[in-house]
Amino acid sequence: MKHRLAIFASGNGSNFEALAAACAKNRINADVALCVCDKPGAYVTERAKKRNIRVLELRPKSFSNKAEYEQVILNELQKENVDFICLAGYMRIIGATLLQHYEGRIVNIHPSLLPAFPGVDAIGQALEYGVKVFGVTVHLVDQSLDGGKILSQAPIPYNGNDRDELEPMVHTREHALYVETVAEILKN
Ligand code: GRF
Repeated sequence: MKHRLAIFASGNGSNFEALAAACAKNRINADVALCVCDKPGAYVTERAKKRNIRVLELRPKSFSNKAEYEQVILNELQKENVDFICLAGYMRIIGATLLQHYEGRIVNIHPSLLPAFPGVDAIGQALEYGVKVFGVTVHLVDQSLDGGKILSQAPIPYNGNDRDELEPMVHTREHALYVETVAEILKN
């Protein structure tokens, strides 16, 4: 049986694209059932529509709290029989409502070698720190900020400080590692 995947994203969606392409090519044993986006109009929504993937666009500010916001998402996930969630540039902490139902079945990609540089702009943080080995991490999502169990990592040696040069290297590595890791988790 194929898994039913939801991908949560807030922005460009290049990791969404990598995962969706891998599902379409059966490299990942799943169909992308839903794209959840908290920034209506973000580029990821166009990517999803091009692939005929259903998009759920929500404005978190129009809900009175996180539980109410996540309950709407949960209802849609259940309607679509989603059994696994990938966060791909989703700029929000997952709350208790979603964790209760999906803990252990939500993963995230982060552009640093965690536990170094959690939170926003990990690439900028690492450049500022002057590290010589950058990298990416796929981890389980829990209630912490980028602190769940590490599932896979890839180092990116880079001895410079040019963000425009480094960023594409990080993203290319992310796409490969995310696909590889999710494929392995969902292979059965
Ligand atoms: C990626 O660097 C990811 O690791 C981070 O947010 C970025 C999203 O990029 N969590 P994209 O929207 O997938 O292109």
